[in-house]
Order: sequence, then structure tokens, then C-alpha cells
Amino acid sequence: MGQPHINGVRGVELDVRDLGASVGFYEKVWGLQETSREAGSSYLRATGLDHHALALHAAPRSGLRSINLAAADKAAVDALHEKAVGFGSKVQNAPHALKGVAGGGYGFSLETPDGVTVSVSADVAQHAERIDDKTRPNKFSHAVLRASDVESMDAFFIDLLGFKLSDKNGHIDFLRCSSDHHSIAIGHAKGPGLHHMAFELPNLDGLLYAVGRTKLAGYPIEWGVGRHAGPGDNIFCMFVEPNGFAAEMTTEMLQVDDATYPKRSVEYWKSVPIQPCAWGIATQRSEMLHKARSGKLVEELNDRCENLAPRREAA
Ligand SMILES: [Fe+2]
Repeated sequence: MGQPHINGVRGVELDVRDLGASVGFYEKVWGLQETSREAGSSYLRATGLDHHALALHAAPRSGLRSINLAAADKAAVDALHEKAVGFGSKVQNAPHALKGVAGGGYGFSLETPDGVTVSVSADVAQHAERIDDKTRPNKFSHAVLRASDVESMDAFFIDLLGFKLSDKNGHIDFLRCSSDHHSIAIGHAKGPGLHHMAFELPNLDGLLYAVGRTKLAGYPIEWGVGRHAGPGDNIFCMFVEPNGFAAEMTTEMLQVDDATYPKRSVEYWKSVPIQPCAWGIATQRSEMLHKARSGKLVEELNDRCENLAPRREAA
């Protein structure tokens, strides 16, 4: 079967302080739908067949809990586990049956070199039917991580998990595991942490409708709508969600083929004018977005809530 490898990104799992409010945002505003729940956890699907694209867990402080990746079958999961052990990665557990509330399946967890939990799974349940609504995300698109040691993160995803380098532009290394130009990207920034997460809309019209719905709900556009003139060529619009994470709506991600995609050099990307965007309309990113992508906003909101809690109790 060749080298064992990851063939898709299922989504992310987030710790959130207010589970009810977060589920409300992701259902009513972002367009996901709760598909299963257990005490303290909610699993939300997109309109595609994947069991869920986002899992939310109640916790004292918000943060990235894990990134969930897909392998083709149990044999691929076993092979990746064996490889991870040999690679010297911190492996959290051996492959095992995964819990039904999260769609079941078979998998294991390990950690990136800087300690982010990554779950690898196969045979997770799928929905029988897609939801027919183009104004809602159809799948999780990509997660961008902040990392101080980009080289060791690249080695983890490429040498261990079988990702391919699509492009690097000097700021972000873009990695693929399917025909999407990137599913994981590593931002050269203080880490570890989530720089941003992106959900795919089926087309531009659907994305614009979803952008309007989010704006009307009181969440301003922090950057976009635009089309990246850089790696991926995708259309994007960035928001900051209630926990302080940067959340992107995207569509028209460049589809690439291993045999023909002309990976370009850092020098190439430095030579092309990528700002403000291919359409010339997505100007400055907001200060709020900078703060969200750096991880500072999540921590600031965590600290604020922690400081408020004793006062509430005393009142
Ligand atoms: Fe993105």
C-alpha cells in the first residue's frame, strides 16, 4: 500500500468555557448542526457526509484540544502508529475503538513536537445524506498552527504522517494530504497554538450569504472578503468567534495534482504582489484578527473570565 499516510483532515476539537453559547454560535450563525452530544461535549456536522467537522468540550479555559486527521483504513492507522513509535513521537495511546458519540471508528492519538494533540482515525461513521444548503459549510477545510520550530513540525507532518509540501512563502508552510492545496499549514510564529481554522463553503454565492448572516448576527468581518493571491488561491473571509479563535470561511481552494503541481520557492512568493488580495479589495486585517491569530485574545478572554468568577461569587 506504499507509505502509510493521512488522507484527510476531519476537523478540530476546541475547549470552550461556555458550551451552550458556543454551540449556539456554531449552529445559528456559522451554519453547522449538532449531530451528537454527551455531558460536556457537542459534535457538530457540516453539510457533507463526515460525522462532524467540529467538536466542542466544556472546560475552564478555551483552547485547542486536538486536530483530527483521517487515514484510509485500520491497516493505515496501525502502520502510522508503528511509524510514530519508531519516529520517537509522543504517542498517547495504542489504536483502539473510538467512542460512538464521536462517530466511532478506530484510531490513536499522538502529539506534534510542540505538544498539540493529533488524532488519527479510520472507519468513523458517515451520514447517509448531505444537507442541501449551500449557505452552510460543507466540510472542514484547513487548520493553521503557530509554531516556533517550523522544521520539526514539517518533519512531523511530512516524514511521519505523509503530508506533502505544497508551498512555503516565508511566513507559512502549506501542507496537503488530498487534492486541496493545503489542509494543514504551519505559521512561523510563537506557538504552540491555533492560528486559524477554516470551513469550506460550496461556492462564492454560498460564502457571501454566510458572511452576511454572520455580520447580521453581530460579528464583523475582520479581513476579506478576498481571494488570496498567494498559495492556495482560495477565497476567504475571516471572523473572530466568541471564544477568541480566528475562524475563516473559504471556497474555491486550489485543487492540485501530485504529478503536475509546480511547487514554487519562497523567492517566487516574495516576488509576487499578494497584498491586498487578487481582487484588490481585502485590505488591512483588523487588530482583533491579529490578536486572535496570535492566541492572545483567547488567553485574554480566559483570564478575564477567571478574574470575574470570584467577584460574581462574592456579589
Ligand atoms: Fe486559511
